[in-house]
Amino acid sequence: MDNDTKFSKLTLTQILSINYRSAAIFEKYNLDISSLGGKTIKEACKEAGIQHERVLSDLASLDSLKIEIPVRVDEWELDFLVDYIINNHHRYVRNIIPVITMHLEKVVSAHGKRHAETIEALKIFSVVYKEFKQHMMKEEEILFPYIKYLVKVKNGENKFEKPYFGRIANPINMMELEHQSAGENMYTIRRLFNNYTPPADACETYRVTLRELKEFEEDHHKHIHLENNILFPKAIILEEQLMTGQAV
Ligand SMILES: [Fe+2]
Repeated sequence: MDNDTKFSKLTLTQILSINYRSAAIFEKYNLDISSLGGKTIKEACKEAGIQHERVLSDLASLDSLKIEIPVRVDEWELDFLVDYIINNHHRYVRNIIPVITMHLEKVVSAHGKRHAETIEALKIFSVVYKEFKQHMMKEEEILFPYIKYLVKVKNGENKFEKPYFGRIANPINMMELEHQSAGENMYTIRRLFNNYTPPADACETYRVTLRELKEFEEDHHKHIHLENNILFPKAIILEEQLMTGQAV
């Protein structure tokens, strides 16, 4: 079965669960997972008014179908998954963002005149920096503690009380919008840098910075996959079960 046939029968969400890198392709074509996730590529493209052949051909070019996320993550308890996201992804983001910023600043001062794209990329990355800091703080102080609380309620260690934000879907919707914004900004940076291809006159710092940005974007896709496609849908179901008193 070729990739075209394989992908054309799956929904966007199913393709994402096979390969998180497809998120970048969906972003490229403005295929919004939150509204089109349940549709096949053909259906989603028809709705978005774009040619499905182009999306399928980009998907076919993904280098691997391997899921590069932790093994058996789907079986993890949600409190463990929350801790994994904080300790693995949030920590990485907090450590690497200042490093990338510093490297980008060096690249701008050395190459900015000949490569205006570096100036634009630094501007966008500083937005990513600011937004990420606030986003992770909101997750760590509001959403994630609530998910851990839900697990405690499920285990009989706490009584269920409705949160001040109403339903978990409210903060989740906001987090998903913020994920999308970061994804779009990273996609713009990738485009500015021609898929992170160093120009012929790039110095070593330039090359390293592009590798760091590429790694950062890939980590972002894994991170978002764990949240949007695993943690959030499961947390919504868990809250629903606890609210309606269904046995879990
Ligand atoms: Fe997040």
